[in-house]
Amino acid sequence: MKKVTRTLLVSACLLAAGPAMATTLYDDLGGKEGIAVVVDGFINEISYDQNIVKFFAQTDIKRLREKLEEQLCMVSDGPCEYTGDSMEDVHAGMQITTGEFNRVVELLQNAMNQAGVAYPVQNRLIKRLAPMRPEIIHR
Ligand code: HEM
Repeated sequence: MKKVTRTLLVSACLLAAGPAMATTLYDDLGGKEGIAVVVDGFINEISYDQNIVKFFAQTDIKRLREKLEEQLCMVSDGPCEYTGDSMEDVHAGMQITTGEFNRVVELLQNAMNQAGVAYPVQNRLIKRLAPMRPEIIHR
């Protein structure tokens, strides 16, 4: 095969493969199953933390799990819609401090470590959750 023909063929193959190769953060988190493992671990981590678990005394954990799964799926560009309440409405009246917020982020990181999520992937998720901070703290 002539070199120019081969180059064209290779280029065409790369172009065709292009869109399929682009992965979303959702894919990198392991999709629906990966997110379910992270959320499960996150809820466990919360339950072990005496200072944080008290916020959840009246919480329906089944709903929390479902809404967290939807939210993480949506913010990571997965095929989901978040059907829970706004971050402002949910956390209103809780008077969450910066320290408590940071601790919850740390608990999420623990859960991602246990689930084997790579650090750069963890950071991408945290970066997408960070803008919610002012909607959650001191409300
Ligand atoms: C990036 C940080 C956070 C995110 C993304 C987040 C997200 C969520 C979501 C999606 C829900 C479920 C909403 C619904 O049921 O409609 C929820 C509920 C809740 N969150 Fe957060 N949250 C964060 C930080 C915190 C922190 C720092 C605290 C407390 C220290 C907290 C305490 C709660 C409690 C107690 C509930 C349950 C409310 C209820 O029982 O109705 N959250 N959160």
